[in-house]
Amino acid sequence: MTFQKIVVTGSSGFLGRHLLPVLKARYGDAVVGVSRKDYDLMDVHQVRRLFDDHQPDAVVHLAAYVGGIGANREFPAAFFYRNILLTALMFEAAAERRVKKLVYPMGGCSYPANAISPIDENQMWTGYPQKESAPYSLAKKMGLVAMNAYRQQHGLSSVVVIPGNMYGEFDNFRYQESHVVPALIRRYYEAKLSGAPSVTAWGTGCATRDFVYAGDIAALFPFFLEEYDSDEPVNLSSGTTTSIRELTELIRSLTGFRGEIVWDTTKPDGQLEKIFDVSRMKRLGLECPTPLEVGLRKTIDWFVQNYEHRTDGIRL
Ligand SMILES: NC(=O)c1ccc[n+]([C@@H]2O[C@H](COP(=O)([O-])OP(=O)(O)OC[C@H]3O[C@@H](n4cnc5c(N)ncnc54)[C@H](OP(=O)(O)O)[C@@H]3O)[C@@H](O)[C@H]2O)c1
Repeated sequence: MTFQKIVVTGSSGFLGRHLLPVLKARYGDAVVGVSRKDYDLMDVHQVRRLFDDHQPDAVVHLAAYVGGIGANREFPAAFFYRNILLTALMFEAAAERRVKKLVYPMGGCSYPANAISPIDENQMWTGYPQKESAPYSLAKKMGLVAMNAYRQQHGLSSVVVIPGNMYGEFDNFRYQESHVVPALIRRYYEAKLSGAPSVTAWGTGCATRDFVYAGDIAALFPFFLEEYDSDEPVNLSSGTTTSIRELTELIRSLTGFRGEIVWDTTKPDGQLEKIFDVSRMKRLGLECPTPLEVGLRKTIDWFVQNYEHRTDGIRL
């Protein structure tokens, strides 16, 4: 499938900043990245203006209102309202303007809280997601409902991908909003700078997760634009399992913090295992190959450089 114009929404965000160079390298000037300062995509008129201005025949819809658990707890209605609008308006417009392809990423938090690891795509509707982020994750999950509804009624070719726990350059390092990898990187780097003798870590460190480098996720999008046209969502992750203890030790060592890690076992570990099943992705011949240590090195290098010089819009 070839495209005349591919619009990437949310291109100024974490994943967008990995994706834009990948798509530009492949499709050149046919790729246009837009962010909220260009169009507020919660406003139907601005969505229409985006389509009038660029006439895309493909859209990668990354724009979303994303945040950490603290922000989700404080602003559940905003997470629901904004994301449901961002989802619904884009599917409607893409069908109305007859785009050839819409690619829509959804979060792993949309899976039921009691999903059994390794979590495959068939577990999507077996229960309610984790309560604290449900307004966000269910609003994003409506992308799956929309994908099926617009396929059926309008023949819209849209696909839903589900990236796992992404980390990488351009991530959000604000303590209130960040995920585990950027939070640990900042914590241990700042502990090194301040010469702290120790850092306290929550729980036992035994909980396991799969982490995936955002650059690997970005590299898969051309496949979903050009070759994949199915109503089956696809988990995208590394397929590797890492304990929080291993992750913490690795980040401690890569940030150069020489103090002690004190595990406060009175604090909760969170879900003990949350790992994606990546069989479907592998059957499609896809992989996310960057080893954790390599991806973390790149992320930490970027973080340190931008922390010190504040040159690249780092979110602190
Ligand atoms: N991060 C993850 O681990 C993860 C995992 C799975 C799926 N996803 C999905 O991947 C996508 C990208 O996530 P991300 O981590 O890159 O998020 P992010 O860094 O917060 O970026 C979100 C982007 O959406 C734009 N945006 C927000 N509200 C908008 C609005 N009203 N109108 C237009 N643009 C708006 C933002 O623009 P401004 O910068 O101008 O505000 C920003 O460019 C999201 O759909 C998310 O659900 C993320």
